[in-house]
Amino acid sequence: MLNSEMIRSQFPQIGHKTNGHEIYYFDSAATTLKHKNVVMATERYYQEECANVHRGIHTLSEISTDRYEQTREKLHHFINSQGREEIIFTKGTTESINLVAKSWGESNLGPGDEIIISHMEHHSNIVPWQMLCEKTGALLKIIPITDKGDIDLDAYTNLLSTKTKIVSCVWASNTLGTINPIEKMISMAHEKGAVFLVDAAQASSHIKIDVQKLQCDFLALSAHKMFGPTGVGLLYGKKDILNQMPPLFGGGDMIDTVTFEKTTYNVLPQKFEAGTPNIAGVIAWAEAIDFIQATGVENIAEYEAELLAFATEELTQVPGLRIIGTSKNKVAVISFVIEDLHPHDIATLANKYHIAVRTGHHCTQPIMERMKVPATVRASFSVYNTQEEIIKLKEALIKITELFG
Ligand code: ALA
Repeated sequence: MLNSEMIRSQFPQIGHKTNGHEIYYFDSAATTLKHKNVVMATERYYQEECANVHRGIHTLSEISTDRYEQTREKLHHFINSQGREEIIFTKGTTESINLVAKSWGESNLGPGDEIIISHMEHHSNIVPWQMLCEKTGALLKIIPITDKGDIDLDAYTNLLSTKTKIVSCVWASNTLGTINPIEKMISMAHEKGAVFLVDAAQASSHIKIDVQKLQCDFLALSAHKMFGPTGVGLLYGKKDILNQMPPLFGGGDMIDTVTFEKTTYNVLPQKFEAGTPNIAGVIAWAEAIDFIQATGVENIAEYEAELLAFATEELTQVPGLRIIGTSKNKVAVISFVIEDLHPHDIATLANKYHIAVRTGHHCTQPIMERMKVPATVRASFSVYNTQEEIIKLKEALIKITELFG
């Protein structure tokens, strides 16, 4: 069992008063709170160790480069890649998916080829593929989802064919919470010769990632959804595939030699890391990984599963509340609507009770259209939330429904 007080004490924002009030934070799917060591490492970099990486032989540059590369090493173990060169630092999941769509997609796809995504994708796993289709003449196919918010696996089987070149699918939905049977989906895609990209943004702090077991070809995630800083993420790719892909950005660090006649490129992973990166972000990310590993992903998942079960039970007692996304297999995300109330009004009033929830389409407009709702309110929970906080959420929602009579 996790010691909740011990966990909470490691997140400086918990207990902090904003405008004189403590906030009940239920928006971890948008971004998790930051671990104290992440904050301290960011400060240490800017206060004491600031220097560029891979570019200097002076002590500060060596320290920064070592720390920067230590994060890569930790991520290599965290996702169990075959090598550290398979870990490419990006700005986050969105950039990672765009990198694959542009670099891999433009060199491998042509008219008539097919790309498969699901109906529950985040816009960042829809728009880059639409842009790729416009450029190459490839076709985008959508796996339908059920009323509960599960992937329709029969429909997926029927969509897959030898024309399928890539399948890109979310592991855990940021809006519905559904955890998809990603390992099975990957093996089904491979049987047809297609490559598979896993969007693991919402999975990374709750589900053990093992890319060698999954056998995925690409995987994308963001530090800020796993207690780390914003503006940094990773693209994992199988080494053979990454080696065949052209760089997306040209500039410093990604080159081997430059002349006006011809430029040759650096080896992996630098080939894809042009320009001065988010050094503080990468360095501080290591602390978030350490926290997850010290706590244990399985322990986090177990604790959050209990919170989810508790919250589902409590929130369904709110008059008129309907949960959108009722898969049996979920991360701790509850999207809901309340009869006759607009989600924006609910979230605005909840804010008056010092409750932070997200409202809107959550960057998943096709899910709203599929579930026939204009928007939802979304409460997302993490390892630092408690059952007492969830009761506050329920009480506030009941007051809000009473206000509207
Ligand atoms: N994708 C993030 C969310 O779900 C920002 O809120």
